[in-house]
Amino acid sequence: MKYISPSILSADFARLGEAIEMLNQSEAEWIHVDVMDGVFVPNISFGFPVMEPLKRLARKPLDVHLMITEPIRYVERFCDAGAWSVGFHLEAVDDPMPTLEKIRAKGVRTALTINPDIAPERLLPYLDKVDMVMLMSVFAGFGGQKFIPETLDKVRFIKQAIRERELPTLIEVDGGVNTENAPLLFEAGADVLVAGSSVFRAPDPMEMIKKLKTTPIPSV
Ligand code: DX5
Ligand code: ZN
Repeated sequence: MKYISPSILSADFARLGEAIEMLNQSEAEWIHVDVMDGVFVPNISFGFPVMEPLKRLARKPLDVHLMITEPIRYVERFCDAGAWSVGFHLEAVDDPMPTLEKIRAKGVRTALTINPDIAPERLLPYLDKVDMVMLMSVFAGFGGQKFIPETLDKVRFIKQAIRERELPTLIEVDGGVNTENAPLLFEAGADVLVAGSSVFRAPDPMEMIKKLKTTPIPSV
């Protein structure tokens, strides 16, 4: 599938309602919600108080990306706050299973994420235990960073493993996504692309969302 999940981290928070309404009217399938705790990543974004207006106004699933230590302490609250899926980092936990079970017990979809310096092989034991894996194509912490091209090979590697196992697990890619790399990522096997700055800094964000899905691979 070819889904776009715009990250509201790059929206103007003084006009969050307008940003959500734009996303409601756009061709985006999901809304990506980046939660940072200032410990797991060197940045603090927002938490539960922002989930409330998001949940109230958004007519699309909230794809929550937790960049926090000890996610097990908070996943249930994010589920209760209206998350459609809750993802956390494999490198933030010793064993992801108890946290995954807590999310699943709430009836919410699970996602497991790795930063670019974590070997994708580490996701293999969990491919049949999560709804989605998320490959970071920048180091988690900030919007507006440059896409790391090696991500494409990681997408191919994980896609092949998912195919071999005949699993329905989705692949999401997060960071530096733009109209140049989006067609390559979809071709490599990504199902969902997160896009923050490319959408919100575009003169026409709705048009950019459409372009991220429809731009063909450049012919060389
Ligand atoms: C990075 C976040 C990303 C980020 C994406 O820590 O997880 O979701 O907001 O923003 P862009 O598309 O600007 O890289
Ligand atoms: Zn994210």
